[in-house]
Amino acid sequence: MKTNVRIAILTAVLGTFGGVIAFLSSGGTGAGQGTQQARRWESSQQCRDCHQDVYEEWHGSHHQIAFTNPEVRALSDDFRKEECMDCHLPRPLAVTGFGKRTLPRRTHFDEGVSCITCHLAADGGILARNDRPDVPCAPKASPDFFAVEACASCHNQHWTTDQWRASHYPAQGTDCSTCHMPAVERVRKDGSKRQGRGHVFPGAHDAAMLRKAAEFAASRDGNDIVLTVTNVGAGHNLPTEERHRAVDIVYRIVAAEGPGPWQRAWRFRQPYRDEAEPINPGNATAENTQLPAGQSKAIRVPIPAGATAVEARLWYRLTPFCDDADPRSTLLYERRVELP
Ligand code: HEC
Ligand code: HEC
Ligand code: HEC
Ligand code: HEC
Ligand code: HEC
Repeated sequence: MKTNVRIAILTAVLGTFGGVIAFLSSGGTGAGQGTQQARRWESSQQCRDCHQDVYEEWHGSHHQIAFTNPEVRALSDDFRKEECMDCHLPRPLAVTGFGKRTLPRRTHFDEGVSCITCHLAADGGILARNDRPDVPCAPKASPDFFAVEACASCHNQHWTTDQWRASHYPAQGTDCSTCHMPAVERVRKDGSKRQGRGHVFPGAHDAAMLRKAAEFAASRDGNDIVLTVTNVGAGHNLPTEERHRAVDIVYRIVAAEGPGPWQRAWRFRQPYRDEAEPINPGNATAENTQLPAGQSKAIRVPIPAGATAVEARLWYRLTPFCDDADPRSTLLYERRVELP
């Protein structure tokens, strides 16, 4: 697309949010031409009538709550830090350019990352995997729209997309949506069935998803207990994205008089830029200890005299500043090794 055309469209969308794009969409490739009434797509509510199931999956997801999420409001000083709006209340991806950082909008505050953000075409139409001139929203195929670059616009700030690229998954054809948009069955209005893609986007707030990420083993090797975590199911580092996510291995020694206190054996985490303490003793100050896809980390704990068993747990924490009882901590796995 010529730069001046791009700017013209951008200006149209920035100005009145789509004021002119309905006209642009009535020209174009001929999909639906003549039969389709040009419609100005501006809210997820408009998709709801015909895509009720998709709407319900998205509604309540972290994409939908991106601008209303209390955690985000607190950290962004109620969005007085305006740069936080870029991805939490974004304009359509196709308008800013796939793979480019999104720009903020000033409308539909309760829709966060909305149907419009991902699906609106630069010409005002709807983007999809397939060309469907036969259906009312007349979607047009766009490989850019369902490519990893589309997610990267917002999901590479902390290198999640780069981590995925460095893993074995791209070669297998496993991309972000393979894991985060699993296949689901949809029922058409006439009762026939078709395959759809989930719009819940499970991640760090979904215990089942978190458990898929890791395998956790505890075994005895001579005078040590070996605690091993393997990233078997995350397509990027574990944990990924936000620097305050943490995965902890903890253990306690059980003796005749009962169990001792829980102690941390290892923390997987990407530290803040200015963090003064290393993540684990022995790490350098800014060292990232996230566990890359497919890799294992083994920690050895010496067995003290009198121990009758060792218990170990693997925790996921949305923030490192919370204890086991906090709802922001999720127990992933528990292991026990008896010491005869
Ligand atoms: C008046 C009803 C109607 C509205 C409103 C509507 N759609 Fe659709 N849409 C359909 C129908 C019907 C299909 C075809 C489903 C099927 O395959 O049977 C469809 C298909 C799609 C597809 C899948 C195309 C493919 O790759 O096969 C996408 C994506 C889509 N719609 C997005 C949207 C979005 C986003 C909105 C709101 C901005 C929207 N639609 C509004 C009726 C509608
Ligand atoms: C480049 C895009 C981008 C910008 C800019 C951005 N975020 Fe985010 N934010 C994201 C993405 C993507 C996620 C989801 C990944 C995750 O949860 O780790 C996220 C998640 C969050 C979460 C976690 C929410 C939860 O419920 O756990 C908080 C809090 C947050 N952002 C705050 C902010 C603040 C504050 C700013 C401004 C200083 C900001 N973000 C700017 C993309 C962005
Ligand atoms: C326009 C920006 C944007 C785009 C594009 C985008 N996301 Fe997000 N995504 C976010 C933000 C912002 C959040 C977190 C919102 C919050 O928690 O407040 C998020 C949350 C998520 C989460 C849930 C994280 C959690 O902690 O529960 C997953 C998974 C996710 N996105 C995957 C994807 C995938 C896969 C794609 C590409 C198909 C994608 N996203 C495209 C901005 C975006
Ligand atoms: C974060 C980006 C994102 C958001 C937000 C989003 N979608 Fe999608 N949607 C996609 C992607 C990517 C696909 C294609 C997946 C594939 O085929 O690989 C898709 C597929 C679809 C499909 C076809 C598959 C199916 O399940 O029927 C429909 C219909 C659809 N979206 C409608 C919507 C509606 C309606 C909303 C808002 C309620 C919405 N989408 C929000 C990215 C998004
Ligand atoms: C092989 C499956 C798989 C693939 C591929 C994959 N993920 Fe994930 N993703 C997971 C699992 C499992 C988790 C939960 C563990 C974690 O947070 O690392 C997760 C977590 C996330 C989260 C939540 C992070 C947070 O802190 O809230 C986001 C966001 C996310 N993935 C985005 C992406 C994006 C973007 C891509 C593509 C570049 C992608 N994922 C590829 C499986 C996958």
